[in-house]
Amino acid sequence: MANETVTLLSKREIEKMRRAGALAAKLLDHLTVLVQPGISTLEINDEAERWTQQHGAKSAPLNYKGFPKSICTSINEVICHGIPSSKEILKEGDIINIDVTLIVDGYYGDTSRTFFVGKPSATAKKLVEVTKECLRRGIAAVTPGGRVGDIGAAIQEYAEGEGFSVVRDFVGHGISNIFHTEPQIPHYGVRGKGKKIRPGMVFTIEPMINEGTWEAIVLKDGWTAITKDSKLSAQFEHTIAVTEDGVEILTRPED
Ligand code: MF3
Ligand code: CO
Ligand code: CO
Repeated sequence: MANETVTLLSKREIEKMRRAGALAAKLLDHLTVLVQPGISTLEINDEAERWTQQHGAKSAPLNYKGFPKSICTSINEVICHGIPSSKEILKEGDIINIDVTLIVDGYYGDTSRTFFVGKPSATAKKLVEVTKECLRRGIAAVTPGGRVGDIGAAIQEYAEGEGFSVVRDFVGHGISNIFHTEPQIPHYGVRGKGKKIRPGMVFTIEPMINEGTWEAIVLKDGWTAITKDSKLSAQFEHTIAVTEDGVEILTRPED
């Protein structure tokens, strides 16, 4: 890789990340009520774009490496990077991940959640709950002085113990005034291995957990990643900052 250096953010920069993260979380809160049978993913996208502009922010995905929309909407077997479309209508029993990234004053906040459309199947419910717990455990594994491998190990151990698999082809990432930067944060791995975790590092943890095989295929649109066996996939994502004594979640919803 051209530049493997991990940038440590200043207090002032972390304050900017806090504002971007908080607004991104608030956007997901706002979109939650739209997740109902009968709505198209394009309608959710368009409301996200409208709300983002109204709040003086920018949608980072729009035109990012050619991505055509403002958010990613990934239904059922779609792992990530689903493209909102008027032809894609939510139906009872679906699961949908909505992934938003906002730019506020030049800094990025990146977060996603998986939602149930109506009542989920028992399998879908378990997969989504396990995936949410994977993110929680991944965050709990972050300690200044620890290693990036601690995060993946905690996630992989739990997901596989519950009979699910961890996507390999997409990973968490450093984030600041750049969308995707060093370090990479795999959601699988070995404790004690990988880059050292230091105060001032800011990165995402965004486990994608599959019902069946971990293997992914990218569709001809160049973006939509689906499971190779067409079984379900779920994801949750937070942007976090490493502090002197632990970790701060920058995209935590106000509850
Ligand atoms: N938000 C995604 C992530 O978690 C990236 C989306 S890039 C896009 O890193 F181009 F697909 F929008
Ligand atoms: Co991300
Ligand atoms: Co994201």
